[in-house]
Amino acid sequence: MTGTVLVTYGTRNGSTAHIAEAIADALRENGLTVETMRAASVPFTTPYDAVVVGGALYAGRWHKDARRFIRRHRPDLARLPVWFFSSGPLDTSASDGDIPPVRAVRRAMDDLHARGHATFGGCLDDDADGFLARRILRSGKGGDFRDFEAVAAWASGIAQQLKGRGER
Ligand SMILES: Cc1cc2nc3c(=O)[nH]c(=O)nc-3n(C[C@H](O)[C@H](O)[C@H](O)COP(=O)(O)O)c2cc1C
Repeated sequence: MTGTVLVTYGTRNGSTAHIAEAIADALRENGLTVETMRAASVPFTTPYDAVVVGGALYAGRWHKDARRFIRRHRPDLARLPVWFFSSGPLDTSASDGDIPPVRAVRRAMDDLHARGHATFGGCLDDDADGFLARRILRSGKGGDFRDFEAVAAWASGIAQQLKGRGER
């Protein structure tokens, strides 16, 4: 594939943006052209040839910017290869095994014939926003559980699939 891949994401506290950047880096290392952008800032998806959409998980739901992105850009996404990711678990469960997508993501995957999904460990830092975040932090359950090796390996798999398309 010779076009551009969009990696876009919904985040509240920023840690999902770093996962998106790591995905973009791995795609670039595999020779692809990539742009990253917050999901709320994407004006249209037409100039892209593949899209990776990620969202932080809050109370069992994908971040609203990721959900809105999918709704708003459905016509474009339906004709492109798309992958989804979620970031959330504040423990090692995402590194220990596959965590399936939450319901709305599963539905969007079926609708758009998405190529794949991964759940990555999340991060909750001391400066996180919100009453509930501070309560989680006070209970000692914060921390950084992002597994950047797993992120890079997943993104390399996407790159292999996209490069295969171009060669056919
Ligand atoms: C109030 C609150 C609710 C959360 N709910 C979930 C959840 O339902 N599932 C999950 O896996 N992680 C949950 N998390 C963890 C976040 O998904 C994790 O901190 C994530 O990395 C945040 O991404 P962001 O920094 O991009 O906003 C929650 C965190 C907070 C503060």
